[in-house]
Amino acid sequence: MEMRFVSTGSYLPEQVVDNDFLSRIVDTSDEWISSRTGIRQRRVVTAGEGTACMAAKAATKAITRAGIDPQDIDLILVATMSPDNYLPNTACEVQAEIGAVNAVCYDLSAACTGFIYALNTAYAFIKAGIYKTVLIIGSEVLSKMLDWNDRSTCVLFGDGAGAAIVQATDIGLFESILGSDGKRKDALTCASRYIVNPLVSKAISLSDKESLDYVRMEGQEVFKFVVKTIPGTIQQVIEKAGCTKEEIRYYVLHQANQRILESVAKKLKEPIEKFPMNLDKYGNTSSASIPILLDKMNKKNKLNRGDKIILSGFGGGLTWGTTLIEW
Ligand code: UT7
Repeated sequence: MEMRFVSTGSYLPEQVVDNDFLSRIVDTSDEWISSRTGIRQRRVVTAGEGTACMAAKAATKAITRAGIDPQDIDLILVATMSPDNYLPNTACEVQAEIGAVNAVCYDLSAACTGFIYALNTAYAFIKAGIYKTVLIIGSEVLSKMLDWNDRSTCVLFGDGAGAAIVQATDIGLFESILGSDGKRKDALTCASRYIVNPLVSKAISLSDKESLDYVRMEGQEVFKFVVKTIPGTIQQVIEKAGCTKEEIRYYVLHQANQRILESVAKKLKEPIEKFPMNLDKYGNTSSASIPILLDKMNKKNKLNRGDKIILSGFGGGLTWGTTLIEW
């Protein structure tokens, strides 16, 4: 069995935060943010919105466009590093919201590579003949994980969700290279809760317990890692698939930084026009960035059956993944 994309959907919160707004709360400027990253705006949730509800909204659009019955979905995978709750998982919350009563549901955490890992998990289940219809979602509320006093991170990220329905099919193309390097785990971090139980001898002060950690990033380390690693994985995947780069219609990369995309394009000697971008509008939405971009392209009828597309994600862990698909 092979796998093909059937439909996409996305949801972005309505609240727009532009660079000028940020320059009023931290020592930054529109000039710095846009020239160093390409980001001009991002969307941020307001009260009542969350990771699961955005995921469900993106999923509903994908289901409607696919014209399938939610009861036909066998598996729901949500890639997120910002779930609303430790329990239940986001995928179960989505299941309840959309009525996908027959689905197995779980979350997958791989930072900005999450959607690519989830896509590969879906492929493995479909290839093995276990499931036929899978709903894959990337959804993030990163705004709650940011230190809004830290200009080196708060200007980069945004909230949003993207979804795709993939299904078993007879013929298709799917080649991947995935990787992880836990030795470089400190490049991107955000700690969870302190251990507090009757066996922990160290007394934890109330202020310790209450002080939450926020996203920290060694930006240049991550930048260098991406530019060094990702072009090679793209070349290898194209070779594995027996294709040439001339046959690749688009390189849909994780939307972290325009300069990263330009460097990758230059290394591959490919025109930047083959690298669609929307980070100017939405910032870095981590696991949601690739499915949001795919959905925006899909809505503009830019994706045609038979198009060969590279999808590539990279981020905390460190983790990375590059996949060649045929639309
Ligand atoms: O999605 C997960 C994967 N993440 C990524 O792929 C991100 C990869 N990294 C990057 O995109 C870039 O490294 C950043 C956009 C995060 C930073 O750009 P940079 O060109 O690497 O800047 P830098 O960190 O080297 O900082 C340069 C200067 C510093 O000042 P000094 O030390 O030169 O005086 C920073 O303090 O820019 C300063 N700076 C800022 N200035 C104004 C850092 N953030 C800001 C800011 N506004 N928001």
